[in-house]
Amino acid sequence: MKLSYFHVAGDVPYDIKSQTAVVIDVLRATTTIACALNNGAEAVQTFADLSKLREKSSDWSLSPKLLLGERGGKMIDGFDLGNSPVAVTSDLVKGKRLFMSTTNGTRALNKVSGAKVVYTMALINRRAVAERLLLKQPKDILILGSGWEGSYSLEDSLAAGSLAAFLLESSGNTCKIMNDELFAAIALWSSWKNDIEQCLRKATHGQRLERLGNHDDDFLCCSQLDSISIIPTQREQGVLFSL
Ligand code: MLT
Repeated sequence: MKLSYFHVAGDVPYDIKSQTAVVIDVLRATTTIACALNNGAEAVQTFADLSKLREKSSDWSLSPKLLLGERGGKMIDGFDLGNSPVAVTSDLVKGKRLFMSTTNGTRALNKVSGAKVVYTMALINRRAVAERLLLKQPKDILILGSGWEGSYSLEDSLAAGSLAAFLLESSGNTCKIMNDELFAAIALWSSWKNDIEQCLRKATHGQRLERLGNHDDDFLCCSQLDSISIIPTQREQGVLFSL
């Protein structure tokens, strides 16, 4: 398996049709997606664009639905939920289709929705996604961080490094690291792996969330490494189901 990491969607440089993509937005979109599917959501349908979300969600009648998302970390007016992973409880989401749009995470997903296989990963489901990759042995794995409006994010790189470190260790170092961004992410992981929550709080988006209000429960949830075994997998373009 050859692994590459890109900080932001704009950096994805080539034809991705043959790639297995792993999209990461630790704070908080891919953590929320994993929690929602773990709590029984029927699927999470993701959108970069709010008008498309409104159009598709109003046509949807096959199951109950919820609108979920944020801009700049704040819930969108008229939506049912923001983007907190602790808010997608089974009472609220079980059996429902979630229509979701976030500032960066759903845009990153949109960018690689044409890949051969698409998974989403956060720290909470890192082991599950890694074990799936080890089982399937795809030739090329593109790990994509969501960043913040086109710039680097510490927490997504931390998670990319955690995935690569797990794959290297479990494969007896037979995976090949293809770019310096991923070597740097592995180094970041080895510096912070014993203090994940502090790393998330230090990150600029962590600080943004702290300025917006108390997000202690979100930080705690997002930093629980390998705590759930959901593998969110794209089965239709932009729609994630639990594998
Ligand atoms: C995003 O997509 O940018 C994030 O998930 C923002 C957030 O923390 O809600």
